[in-house]
Amino acid sequence: MVQQEYRYIRRKERLAVYPGSFDPVTNGHVDIIERSLKFIDRLIISVTHHPVKKPLFSFRERMEMLQGVFQKRREITVDYFDGLLVDYLEKKGIYLVIRGLRAVSDFDYEFQMVLTNRKLLPQIETIFLTPREEYLYLSSSLVKEIARLNGPVEKFVPEIVVKKLKEKFSLTH
Ligand code: PNS
Repeated sequence: MVQQEYRYIRRKERLAVYPGSFDPVTNGHVDIIERSLKFIDRLIISVTHHPVKKPLFSFRERMEMLQGVFQKRREITVDYFDGLLVDYLEKKGIYLVIRGLRAVSDFDYEFQMVLTNRKLLPQIETIFLTPREEYLYLSSSLVKEIARLNGPVEKFVPEIVVKKLKEKFSLTH
């Protein structure tokens, strides 16, 4: 009996959703993703709209960049949703959410989101992960600003994203 239960636990995959706008994916996001895979088996990175920000990249472009970065990773799936996160989670039957928490400035928004989502769907749990120190102040918005002003973004985003940003802004270096 004990052995049977053990086998059941071993077979059960630990799944989580990492929702975000990923406009575009940065090395900070990649760091969070890698960290989450230390304790879950499969991660669904799910691209969605930010309620306020107007995106630079389309849904398709953002997904393609993520797919490009993680193309060799079988434990990672890239998906999207349009609507409430709780509805998406319920549809998928996944109740674990991964979010990055960088500086104090993130805290208010994340706290509000967690508590509101919990009110809407009580079985959700959110795990906050903190990226490496060098990515603590990195954001997609900053990366876009640097790229727009023709600055080097190689240190902040994966190679595929550097290329895409250069195409968007027709950068010279
Ligand atoms: O990467 P971001 O932009 O900080 O991610 C925020 C995001 C997209 C995860 C959040 O805005 C979200 O979950 N949007 C989906 C709509 C929704 O469920 N809103 C209610 C949140 S309490």
